[in-house]
Amino acid sequence: MKVVNEIIIYSYWESKGVESVPAIFPFGSLKDPILCRKTVGKTFWDLYREYKGRQFVGFYAPFEPMLLVRDPELSKIIHIKEFNNFADNGFVVITDVDPMLGINPFAIKGIPEWKDIRGIHTPLQTTIKLKTMIPEMANIAENLIKYIDTIKDKPIEVKDTTRFYTNDVVASCAYGIQSDSFFENSSFNKYTMKQMFGSDYNASYATISGLFLPSASRLFRFRTISATAQKFFETLAKTCIQHREESAFSEVELAAHCMTFFINGAETASIQLTFTLFELAVNSDVQEKLRNEIKQAVNNVREFDYDKLWGLPYLEMVISESLRLHPPLPFVSRTCTQQTILGGLEINAGTKVFTSILGLHKDAEYYPEPEKFNPERFSEENKGAKFALTENKMALAAILLNYRLKPADDIPVMNYDEKSTFFTSPKGKINIIFERLRGGDNYENILELNILLSGFFRCKI
Ligand code: HEM
Repeated sequence: MKVVNEIIIYSYWESKGVESVPAIFPFGSLKDPILCRKTVGKTFWDLYREYKGRQFVGFYAPFEPMLLVRDPELSKIIHIKEFNNFADNGFVVITDVDPMLGINPFAIKGIPEWKDIRGIHTPLQTTIKLKTMIPEMANIAENLIKYIDTIKDKPIEVKDTTRFYTNDVVASCAYGIQSDSFFENSSFNKYTMKQMFGSDYNASYATISGLFLPSASRLFRFRTISATAQKFFETLAKTCIQHREESAFSEVELAAHCMTFFINGAETASIQLTFTLFELAVNSDVQEKLRNEIKQAVNNVREFDYDKLWGLPYLEMVISESLRLHPPLPFVSRTCTQQTILGGLEINAGTKVFTSILGLHKDAEYYPEPEKFNPERFSEENKGAKFALTENKMALAAILLNYRLKPADDIPVMNYDEKSTFFTSPKGKINIIFERLRGGDNYENILELNILLSGFFRCKI
């Protein structure tokens, strides 16, 4: 069997004259990620470095050949110029096992289907819509400050704290509900933070097999989203539909679209904010410069409107540099749907192609001294993920107007969590000391929050 597979399957790239990573049955070239000894992101990052100088390198999943593209120009062709031939994500969801993830634009297959689903989510990221969300983001940023004030003189673990913030922003701005993550043991918080994903084992295997061995997902019914979280979102949608006169969606559709916003948006934004706070705590000069810029613009986050928030060039540079140094998604994948010539190589339909974002972002050829946090590299703004960048700008402004950040004694060198299969996540606790600045805001009492009128629906849970 081993010999048969090596000859028949694992010789594909050689027959095309493409250098490839050694492979052994049954793991192909992916023994470490399949045995959960290395994350997929780290695996691609290592291969990116190992095959320096090549445009691409072939590798093997257990039963299929795949390609890691190293040359950023070729990645641009895949994601932009030849998008129609690579529109499908490489991640396969078995829809009867993970039905809600199945209609996430990230996972949906086919251009018309993708356009339909994506069209539901993009309006929430338009400038007009984001402008209306600014007061609510400021409200939640103020709650963040009040929460930090309650933990006096002790280092604060920021991974959970930033997650409370992004949880509340999504709940409020996207769904129109009040989740009060900072101050109450809200059911929204419980289900979305603690019970969102299946058991570690199940979610990791759903991710790995979704990328490299979809037949195993089908066979073992690995699911990424826990059945409990799915039920929670279904109940939430049902309750909220009752509060509306009419809805364009069925309960299940609405539940799935709400979950999409949450899955794609809350974790990525919270990771991004955590990394940025960490870098500001250890780079005090950058922190001072950024605080000065913010202070010159406003005294309090309530003075921000959208244009003022997006008109701070150094804040933009700091966030861009944080996204470069610690990209929350470490790689992207696409499936070729029509035969395409890429860098002189014929890519057959069905072949999955990967780009290592970590590899490119930490390559000295593109970013000299790549491990250095240096916002000066970015003078042009990065307009991706606008919702997340808007909420994170608001949170950073609120924090820097009120506190000086210092690393706690036990703050680690930034290492990435080897158990985080999908995201680039900080390993361990990220403890930061928030030293109160004189003249900051004073929150003696926790404000009553109002139920919102915006979003898909409105209610309090
Ligand atoms: C800093 C935070 C964020 C980062 C770094 C980020 C990064 C990314 C990346 C790299 C992709 C492409 C994935 C792929 O093609 O394989 C993606 C897709 C996506 N993201 Fe984000 N994202 C962030 C925040 C958000 C937020 C807040 C939302 C929700 C409003 C969101 C919604 C989506 C959706 C719906 C897709 C799928 C798009 C499609 O396939 O058409 N993201 N994100």
